[in-house]
Amino acid sequence: MKKIPVGILAATGIVGQRFIQLLADHPWFEITAVAASERSAGKRYADAVHWLLPTPIPERVADMTVVESRPPLDCALVFSALPSDVAREVEPAFAAAGYVVSSNASAYRQEPDVPLLIPEVNPDHLGLLPSQQKSRGWDHGCLVTNPNCSTITLVMALKPLVDAFGVEQVIVTTMQATSGAGYPGVPSLDVIDNVLPHTDGEEPKMEWEPLKLLGSLNGVEITLADLPISAHCHRVAVWDGHTEAVSVKLGRRATADELRQVLHDFRGLPQELGLPSAPERPLSVPAAENRPQPRLDRDAAGGMATAVGRIRPCPILDWKLLVVGHNTVRGAAGAAILNAELMKAQGYL
Ligand SMILES: NC(=O)c1ccc[n+]([C@@H]2O[C@H](COP(=O)([O-])OP(=O)(O)OC[C@H]3O[C@@H](n4cnc5c(N)ncnc54)[C@H](OP(=O)(O)O)[C@@H]3O)[C@@H](O)[C@H]2O)c1
Repeated sequence: MKKIPVGILAATGIVGQRFIQLLADHPWFEITAVAASERSAGKRYADAVHWLLPTPIPERVADMTVVESRPPLDCALVFSALPSDVAREVEPAFAAAGYVVSSNASAYRQEPDVPLLIPEVNPDHLGLLPSQQKSRGWDHGCLVTNPNCSTITLVMALKPLVDAFGVEQVIVTTMQATSGAGYPGVPSLDVIDNVLPHTDGEEPKMEWEPLKLLGSLNGVEITLADLPISAHCHRVAVWDGHTEAVSVKLGRRATADELRQVLHDFRGLPQELGLPSAPERPLSVPAAENRPQPRLDRDAAGGMATAVGRIRPCPILDWKLLVVGHNTVRGAAGAAILNAELMKAQGYL
Protein backbone atom coordinates (compact mmCIF):
# COMPACT_ATOMS: atom_id res chain seq x y z
CA MET A 1 0.00 0.00 0.00
CA LYS A 2 1.28 3.46 -0.87
CA LYS A 3 1.66 5.42 2.35
CA ILE A 4 -0.17 8.71 2.90
CA PRO A 5 2.28 11.65 3.08
CA VAL A 6 1.93 13.56 6.34
CA GLY A 7 3.28 16.82 7.70
CA ILE A 8 3.77 17.78 11.33
CA LEU A 9 3.11 21.36 12.46
CA ALA A 10 5.17 22.38 15.52
CA ALA A 11 7.35 19.35 14.89
CA THR A 12 10.09 20.63 17.24
CA GLY A 13 7.96 20.78 20.43
CA ILE A 14 7.33 18.03 22.97
CA VAL A 15 4.22 16.80 21.19
CA GLY A 16 5.81 17.26 17.75
CA GLN A 17 8.66 14.99 18.82
CA ARG A 18 6.17 12.32 19.91
CA PHE A 19 4.53 12.52 16.49
CA ILE A 20 7.89 11.90 14.87
CA GLN A 21 8.66 9.00 17.18
CA LEU A 22 5.23 7.36 16.75
CA LEU A 23 5.10 7.87 12.98
CA ALA A 24 8.65 6.66 12.27
CA ASP A 25 7.50 3.17 11.23
CA HIS A 26 3.81 3.74 10.72
CA PRO A 27 2.20 1.29 8.28
CA TRP A 28 -0.14 3.89 6.68
CA PHE A 29 1.53 7.28 7.13
CA GLU A 30 4.92 8.61 6.09
CA ILE A 31 6.42 11.88 7.32
CA THR A 32 7.17 14.07 4.31
CA ALA A 33 7.21 17.53 5.91
CA VAL A 34 8.23 19.02 9.27
CA ALA A 35 7.16 22.55 10.10
CA ALA A 36 7.64 24.86 13.07
CA SER A 37 8.04 28.58 13.73
CA GLU A 38 10.14 30.99 11.71
CA ARG A 39 12.84 30.50 14.40
CA SER A 40 13.36 26.93 13.17
CA ALA A 41 12.46 27.27 9.49
CA GLY A 42 15.37 26.68 7.12
CA LYS A 43 17.32 24.57 9.62
CA ARG A 44 17.99 20.84 9.48
CA TYR A 45 15.46 19.20 11.83
CA ALA A 46 18.18 17.70 14.03
CA ASP A 47 19.75 21.15 14.43
CA ALA A 48 16.47 22.93 15.12
CA VAL A 49 15.08 20.56 17.74
CA HIS A 50 16.00 20.09 21.39
CA TRP A 51 15.29 16.34 21.21
CA LEU A 52 13.98 14.99 24.51
CA LEU A 53 13.00 11.39 23.82
CA PRO A 54 15.15 8.36 24.67
CA THR A 55 14.85 6.92 21.14
CA PRO A 56 17.03 8.60 18.48
CA ILE A 57 15.62 11.01 15.90
CA PRO A 58 14.64 8.85 12.92
CA GLU A 59 17.43 9.33 10.33
CA ARG A 60 15.13 10.41 7.49
CA VAL A 61 13.60 13.11 9.64
CA ALA A 62 16.89 14.31 11.15
CA ASP A 63 18.02 15.51 7.73
CA MET A 64 14.75 17.13 6.67
CA THR A 65 14.64 20.91 6.42
CA VAL A 66 12.13 22.53 8.74
CA VAL A 67 9.67 24.80 6.96
CA GLU A 68 7.23 27.41 8.23
CA SER A 69 3.81 26.22 9.40
CA ARG A 70 1.72 27.42 6.51
CA PRO A 71 0.38 25.86 3.32
CA PRO A 72 1.45 24.53 0.92
CA LEU A 73 3.25 21.55 2.46
CA ASP A 74 4.30 18.39 0.71
CA CYS A 75 1.62 16.13 2.24
CA ALA A 76 -2.11 15.33 2.32
CA LEU A 77 -2.63 15.16 6.09
CA VAL A 78 -1.21 17.48 8.74
CA PHE A 79 -0.86 16.73 12.41
CA SER A 80 -0.91 19.93 14.40
CA ALA A 81 0.84 20.45 17.73
CA LEU A 82 0.70 24.22 17.39
CA PRO A 83 0.17 26.56 20.32
CA SER A 84 -3.52 27.34 20.44
CA ASP A 85 -3.31 30.99 19.34
CA VAL A 86 -1.24 30.02 16.30
CA ALA A 87 -3.54 27.06 15.54
CA ARG A 88 -6.52 29.42 15.35
CA GLU A 89 -5.05 31.07 12.24
CA VAL A 90 -3.08 28.23 10.71
CA GLU A 91 -5.33 25.16 10.98
CA PRO A 92 -8.27 26.55 8.95
CA ALA A 93 -5.79 27.82 6.36
CA PHE A 94 -4.63 24.22 5.86
CA ALA A 95 -8.18 22.85 5.80
CA ALA A 96 -9.20 25.52 3.27
CA ALA A 97 -6.22 24.54 1.13
CA GLY A 98 -7.48 20.95 0.97
CA TYR A 99 -5.52 19.28 3.78
CA VAL A 100 -7.00 16.99 6.41
CA VAL A 101 -5.98 18.48 9.77
CA SER A 102 -5.75 16.32 12.90
CA SER A 103 -5.13 18.74 15.73
CA ASN A 104 -4.00 18.62 19.34
CA ALA A 105 -4.57 22.28 19.94
CA SER A 106 -7.54 23.59 21.90
CA ALA A 107 -8.41 26.38 19.43
CA TYR A 108 -11.32 24.63 17.68
CA ARG A 109 -12.41 21.99 20.21
CA GLN A 110 -15.50 23.95 21.20
CA GLU A 111 -16.66 24.81 17.68
CA PRO A 112 -20.00 23.05 17.07
CA ASP A 113 -19.00 21.72 13.62
CA VAL A 114 -15.57 20.39 14.66
CA PRO A 115 -15.40 16.80 15.94
CA LEU A 116 -13.72 16.48 19.32
CA LEU A 117 -12.82 12.86 19.04
CA ILE A 118 -11.68 9.81 20.99
CA PRO A 119 -12.15 6.89 18.60
CA GLU A 120 -13.17 4.46 21.36
CA VAL A 121 -15.68 6.94 22.79
CA ASN A 122 -17.48 8.90 20.04
CA PRO A 123 -16.39 7.72 16.57
CA ASP A 124 -19.79 8.70 15.16
CA HIS A 125 -18.96 12.40 15.75
CA LEU A 126 -16.92 12.25 12.53
CA GLY A 127 -20.39 12.57 11.01
CA LEU A 128 -20.00 16.35 11.56
CA LEU A 129 -17.45 16.55 8.76
CA PRO A 130 -19.72 16.81 5.69
CA SER A 131 -21.61 19.77 7.20
CA GLN A 132 -18.32 21.31 8.39
CA GLN A 133 -16.94 21.19 4.86
CA LYS A 134 -20.15 22.53 3.41
CA SER A 135 -20.61 25.43 5.81
CA ARG A 136 -16.94 26.47 5.70
CA GLY A 137 -16.60 25.97 1.94
CA TRP A 138 -13.78 23.44 2.31
CA ASP A 139 -13.72 21.10 -0.71
CA HIS A 140 -11.49 18.28 0.49
CA GLY A 141 -9.96 19.66 3.68
CA CYS A 142 -11.40 19.26 7.15
CA LEU A 143 -10.46 19.69 10.81
CA VAL A 144 -10.70 17.17 13.63
CA THR A 145 -9.41 17.72 17.17
CA ASN A 146 -8.45 15.52 20.07
CA PRO A 147 -9.21 16.55 23.66
CA ASN A 148 -6.91 17.98 26.26
CA CYS A 149 -4.54 15.34 27.71
CA SER A 150 -6.21 15.23 31.15
CA THR A 151 -9.66 15.02 29.57
CA ILE A 152 -8.71 12.00 27.45
CA THR A 153 -7.40 10.18 30.51
CA LEU A 154 -10.61 10.90 32.43
CA VAL A 155 -13.05 10.10 29.64
CA MET A 156 -11.38 6.80 28.73
CA ALA A 157 -12.21 5.65 32.26
CA LEU A 158 -15.68 7.21 32.36
CA LYS A 159 -17.01 5.92 29.03
CA PRO A 160 -17.53 2.25 30.02
CA LEU A 161 -19.13 3.37 33.29
CA VAL A 162 -21.46 5.75 31.43
CA ASP A 163 -22.52 2.96 29.08
CA ALA A 164 -23.01 0.31 31.76
CA PHE A 165 -24.38 2.22 34.76
CA GLY A 166 -24.84 5.87 33.82
CA VAL A 167 -22.67 8.55 35.49
CA GLU A 168 -24.39 11.47 37.22
CA GLN A 169 -21.60 13.44 38.91
CA VAL A 170 -17.80 13.50 38.79
CA ILE A 171 -15.14 15.09 40.96
CA VAL A 172 -11.60 14.79 39.63
CA THR A 173 -8.28 15.93 41.08
CA THR A 174 -5.31 15.78 38.74
CA MET A 175 -1.57 15.44 39.33
CA GLN A 176 -0.27 16.38 35.89
CA ALA A 177 3.18 15.71 34.49
CA THR A 178 5.53 18.59 33.73
CA SER A 179 5.87 17.51 30.07
CA GLY A 180 2.23 18.56 29.73
CA ALA A 181 3.36 22.18 29.84
CA GLY A 182 5.65 21.83 26.79
CA TYR A 183 9.37 22.64 26.68
CA PRO A 184 10.97 24.33 28.58
CA GLY A 185 7.62 24.62 30.33
CA VAL A 186 7.48 25.03 34.09
CA PRO A 187 10.77 26.26 35.62
CA SER A 188 12.43 23.42 37.57
CA LEU A 189 12.83 25.63 40.65
CA ASP A 190 9.07 26.12 40.74
CA VAL A 191 8.08 22.46 40.44
CA ILE A 192 10.79 20.40 42.19
CA ASP A 193 9.86 19.73 45.83
CA ASN A 194 6.49 21.24 45.10
CA VAL A 195 2.94 20.89 43.76
CA LEU A 196 1.75 23.73 41.57
CA PRO A 197 -1.91 24.46 42.25
CA HIS A 198 -2.67 26.23 38.98
CA THR A 199 -2.43 24.70 35.51
CA ASP A 200 -3.42 27.38 33.08
CA GLY A 201 -6.89 26.78 31.61
CA GLU A 202 -7.05 23.07 32.43
CA GLU A 203 -9.99 23.07 34.82
CA PRO A 204 -12.55 24.58 32.41
CA LYS A 205 -11.35 22.20 29.68
CA MET A 206 -11.79 19.17 31.93
CA GLU A 207 -15.24 20.31 32.99
CA TRP A 208 -16.51 21.01 29.45
CA GLU A 209 -14.75 18.72 26.95
CA PRO A 210 -16.19 15.46 28.42
CA LEU A 211 -19.68 16.83 27.83
CA LYS A 212 -19.03 17.09 24.09
CA LEU A 213 -17.21 13.73 23.97
CA LEU A 214 -20.03 11.96 25.81
CA GLY A 215 -22.71 13.95 24.00
CA SER A 216 -24.82 12.61 21.17
CA LEU A 217 -24.75 13.48 17.49
CA ASN A 218 -28.13 14.76 16.34
CA GLY A 219 -28.03 15.48 12.65
CA VAL A 220 -25.46 18.25 12.30
CA GLU A 221 -24.89 19.05 15.97
CA ILE A 222 -23.79 17.52 19.24
CA THR A 223 -26.15 17.58 22.21
CA LEU A 224 -23.91 17.91 25.25
CA ALA A 225 -24.07 15.26 27.96
CA ASP A 226 -25.78 16.33 31.17
CA LEU A 227 -22.92 15.63 33.58
CA PRO A 228 -21.63 18.04 36.22
CA ILE A 229 -17.87 17.69 36.63
CA SER A 230 -15.73 19.47 39.21
CA ALA A 231 -12.01 19.48 38.32
CA HIS A 232 -9.03 20.42 40.49
CA CYS A 233 -5.84 20.50 38.41
CA HIS A 234 -2.25 20.46 39.68
CA ARG A 235 1.21 20.19 38.14
CA VAL A 236 3.65 17.79 39.82
CA ALA A 237 7.30 16.89 39.28
CA VAL A 238 6.59 13.78 37.18
CA TRP A 239 8.14 13.71 33.71
CA ASP A 240 5.33 11.97 31.75
CA GLY A 241 1.92 10.59 32.79
CA HIS A 242 -1.08 12.34 34.30
CA THR A 243 -2.59 10.84 37.45
CA GLU A 244 -6.22 11.59 38.28
CA ALA A 245 -8.13 10.82 41.48
CA VAL A 246 -11.77 10.47 40.46
CA SER A 247 -15.02 10.14 42.43
CA VAL A 248 -18.16 9.20 40.51
CA LYS A 249 -21.83 9.02 41.28
CA LEU A 250 -23.42 6.30 39.17
CA GLY A 251 -26.91 6.17 37.72
CA ARG A 252 -27.54 2.78 39.27
CA ARG A 253 -26.05 0.61 41.98
CA ALA A 254 -23.05 -1.54 41.07
CA THR A 255 -20.43 -3.59 42.88
CA ALA A 256 -16.67 -3.05 42.69
CA ASP A 257 -16.38 -6.33 40.77
CA GLU A 258 -18.91 -5.12 38.20
CA LEU A 259 -16.98 -1.89 37.76
CA ARG A 260 -13.71 -3.78 37.32
CA GLN A 261 -15.29 -6.15 34.79
CA VAL A 262 -16.85 -3.37 32.73
CA LEU A 263 -13.56 -1.43 32.65
CA HIS A 264 -11.58 -4.54 31.77
CA ASP A 265 -13.98 -5.55 28.99
CA PHE A 266 -14.10 -2.09 27.40
CA ARG A 267 -13.48 -2.10 23.66
CA GLY A 268 -14.31 0.36 20.91
CA LEU A 269 -14.35 0.76 17.16
CA PRO A 270 -10.53 1.07 16.86
CA GLN A 271 -10.19 -2.40 18.38
CA GLU A 272 -12.89 -3.80 16.10
CA LEU A 273 -11.24 -2.27 13.04
CA GLY A 274 -7.74 -3.26 14.18
CA LEU A 275 -6.38 0.26 13.68
CA PRO A 276 -2.57 0.26 13.80
CA SER A 277 -2.26 2.44 16.93
CA ALA A 278 -5.21 0.95 18.80
CA PRO A 279 -4.24 -0.86 21.98
CA GLU A 280 -5.75 -4.33 22.20
CA ARG A 281 -7.25 -3.28 25.53
CA PRO A 282 -7.85 0.47 25.86
CA LEU A 283 -7.94 0.17 29.65
CA SER A 284 -5.58 -1.76 31.90
CA VAL A 285 -7.03 -2.50 35.31
CA PRO A 286 -4.16 -3.31 37.69
CA ALA A 287 -5.38 -5.07 40.85
CA ALA A 288 -2.62 -4.06 43.28
CA GLU A 289 -3.58 -1.43 45.86
CA ASN A 290 -0.52 0.69 45.01
CA ARG A 291 -1.33 0.93 41.28
CA PRO A 292 -1.63 2.68 38.94
CA GLN A 293 1.48 4.85 39.19
CA PRO A 294 2.78 7.04 36.36
CA ARG A 295 6.22 5.43 36.29
CA LEU A 296 4.84 1.89 36.17
CA ASP A 297 1.66 2.32 34.14
CA ARG A 298 2.04 5.23 31.69
CA ASP A 299 3.71 3.05 29.04
CA ALA A 300 1.02 0.35 28.94
CA ALA A 301 0.45 -0.60 25.27
CA GLY A 302 3.13 1.86 24.21
CA GLY A 303 1.38 4.68 26.11
CA MET A 304 -1.96 4.15 24.34
CA ALA A 305 -3.73 2.31 27.20
CA THR A 306 -5.15 4.12 30.22
CA ALA A 307 -4.75 2.46 33.63
CA VAL A 308 -7.63 2.43 36.12
CA GLY A 309 -7.27 1.05 39.63
CA ARG A 310 -7.91 1.57 43.35
CA ILE A 311 -11.64 1.06 42.82
CA ARG A 312 -13.19 1.60 46.23
CA PRO A 313 -16.34 3.04 47.79
CA CYS A 314 -16.67 6.79 48.14
CA PRO A 315 -18.60 7.98 51.22
CA ILE A 316 -19.87 11.07 49.35
CA LEU A 317 -20.36 9.97 45.73
CA ASP A 318 -20.46 6.21 44.97
CA TRP A 319 -16.98 5.13 43.88
CA LYS A 320 -13.38 6.32 43.91
CA LEU A 321 -10.89 5.40 41.16
CA LEU A 322 -7.32 6.31 40.31
CA VAL A 323 -6.52 6.78 36.63
CA VAL A 324 -3.16 7.21 34.85
CA GLY A 325 -2.67 8.11 31.19
CA HIS A 326 0.37 9.05 29.09
CA ASN A 327 -0.14 12.73 28.33
CA THR A 328 2.03 13.05 25.24
CA VAL A 329 1.07 9.66 23.72
CA ARG A 330 -2.62 8.83 24.39
CA GLY A 331 -3.14 12.40 25.56
CA ALA A 332 -1.67 14.09 22.48
CA ALA A 333 0.27 12.68 19.50
CA GLY A 334 -1.04 9.11 19.78
CA ALA A 335 -4.58 10.48 20.08
CA ALA A 336 -4.29 12.55 16.89
CA ILE A 337 -2.73 9.62 15.02
CA LEU A 338 -5.54 7.27 16.12
CA ASN A 339 -8.06 9.91 14.98
CA ALA A 340 -6.42 10.02 11.55
CA GLU A 341 -6.38 6.22 11.36
CA LEU A 342 -10.11 6.16 12.05
CA MET A 343 -10.65 8.81 9.37
CA LYS A 344 -8.71 6.73 6.89
CA ALA A 345 -10.59 3.55 7.81
CA GLN A 346 -13.89 5.38 7.36
CA GLY A 347 -13.04 6.95 4.02
CA TYR A 348 -12.45 10.56 5.13
CA LEU A 349 -8.83 10.46 3.98
N1 LIG B 1 2.54 18.54 26.13
C1 LIG B 1 1.39 17.86 26.25
O1 LIG B 1 1.28 16.87 27.01
C2 LIG B 1 0.18 18.25 25.43
C3 LIG B 1 -0.92 17.42 25.50
C4 LIG B 1 -2.06 17.74 24.74
C5 LIG B 1 -2.06 18.86 23.95
N2 LIG B 1 -0.98 19.68 23.92
C6 LIG B 1 -1.05 20.85 23.02
O2 LIG B 1 -0.12 20.66 21.95
C7 LIG B 1 0.44 21.91 21.54
C8 LIG B 1 1.96 21.84 21.63
O3 LIG B 1 2.38 21.58 22.94
P1 LIG B 1 3.89 21.20 23.28
O4 LIG B 1 3.81 20.65 24.66
O5 LIG B 1 4.48 20.37 22.21
O6 LIG B 1 4.59 22.66 23.30
P2 LIG B 1 6.14 23.03 23.18
O7 LIG B 1 7.03 21.93 23.60
O8 LIG B 1 6.25 24.34 23.89
O9 LIG B 1 6.36 23.29 21.62
C9 LIG B 1 5.83 24.40 20.94
C10 LIG B 1 5.93 24.15 19.45
O10 LIG B 1 5.18 25.17 18.78
C11 LIG B 1 6.00 25.76 17.78
N3 LIG B 1 5.61 27.15 17.59
C12 LIG B 1 5.63 28.15 18.51
N4 LIG B 1 5.21 29.32 17.95
C13 LIG B 1 4.94 29.02 16.65
C14 LIG B 1 4.49 29.81 15.55
N5 LIG B 1 4.23 31.11 15.67
N6 LIG B 1 4.31 29.18 14.36
C15 LIG B 1 4.57 27.87 14.21
N7 LIG B 1 5.01 27.08 15.23
C16 LIG B 1 5.19 27.65 16.42
C17 LIG B 1 7.42 25.63 18.31
O11 LIG B 1 8.33 25.74 17.24
P3 LIG B 1 9.84 26.34 17.45
O12 LIG B 1 10.65 25.23 18.04
O13 LIG B 1 10.24 26.70 16.07
O14 LIG B 1 9.72 27.51 18.38
C18 LIG B 1 7.35 24.22 18.88
O15 LIG B 1 7.47 23.28 17.86
C19 LIG B 1 -0.21 22.97 22.43
O16 LIG B 1 -1.37 23.47 21.77
C20 LIG B 1 -0.62 22.17 23.66
O17 LIG B 1 -1.67 22.78 24.37
C21 LIG B 1 0.16 19.39 24.62
